[in-house]
Amino acid sequence: MADDPRWAVITGASSGIGAELARVLASKGYFLVLVARRHERLEALAGEIQSVHKIEVETMALDLEDREAPQDLVEMLRDRGIRVHTLVNNAGFGLRGNFATLPVERQMAMIDLNVRALTALSRLMLPGMLERGRGGILNVASTAAFQAGPYMAVYYATKAYVLSLSEALHEEAKSRGVTVTALCPGSTESEFSATADVEYSRTLRPTLMTAAEVARIGVEGYEAGKAIVIPGGGNWLGTLGSKFLPRVIVRRLAGRLQRGEVTGPREEANERA
Ligand SMILES: NC(=O)c1ccc[n+]([C@@H]2O[C@H](COP(=O)([O-])OP(=O)(O)OC[C@H]3O[C@@H](n4cnc5c(N)ncnc54)[C@H](OP(=O)(O)O)[C@@H]3O)[C@@H](O)[C@H]2O)c1
Repeated sequence: MADDPRWAVITGASSGIGAELARVLASKGYFLVLVARRHERLEALAGEIQSVHKIEVETMALDLEDREAPQDLVEMLRDRGIRVHTLVNNAGFGLRGNFATLPVERQMAMIDLNVRALTALSRLMLPGMLERGRGGILNVASTAAFQAGPYMAVYYATKAYVLSLSEALHEEAKSRGVTVTALCPGSTESEFSATADVEYSRTLRPTLMTAAEVARIGVEGYEAGKAIVIPGGGNWLGTLGSKFLPRVIVRRLAGRLQRGEVTGPREEANERA
């Protein structure tokens, strides 16, 4: 069994951090299952990776906001005879704006993707890992997980859930040879800001990390068996605030930061709605 290929399933592999996680894991010899909605993107990435590394890569087009999707994914893997070594729950999105005026169906879809699909996939795949006593789960949370985030309230709350679940599972699984890691990036170059309608301020822009850096640090931390990985010294320092400052100050600061980025045409429209 130790000679089995290490299959990694990566959700949200069609862009940003997920695509870079795929490149890093491929460079370490993992076989890959790439999952997202945009199948042509997955096929292009699979082709690129296979031209460089001698590994197998499968692609699966799935909308993980769909409640049946996690079970469908597990059945597709079973049909293809794939035993999952590593699950990377990376697919996710954010929305900025007032909680009371953002479209409720998008807020609920965010919970379905960031929380429900991640939990279902973990629940479906962890038992096999525990049985085999190897592998694990890399969950992409965020530095947003460490405090409340006014004007991105649901997004911050979903990431707090991801961090909490990952830490708990880390403790449950570690004595059985299985690692669960929460990767908590700060602002990172990807398609996230366009989807979330976030515009990074001139001060923040130079501090953005690349998705490639985040992915490399994330995989290193996962393979080292860490419970929490915060890429970048600045991001790590930022999370110290939530440990040592009173909650009232932390949430006001987070609100001010988001409000500064929130003022824009979309937000004005939300205010008027
Ligand atoms: N960028 C940041 O500043 C930042 C900071 C902290 C944490 N994060 C987290 O990092 C993770 C990756 O985000 P990113 O920054 O790389 O953003 P991104 O470039 O927008 O990538 C998001 C990925 O999720 C996939 N996805 C979205 N909705 C999906 C759905 N319904 N079903 C299946 N896949 C879906 C997208 O693929 P399709 O559209 O093809 O489905 C895409 O591959 C997210 O969990 C995000 O919250 C990002």
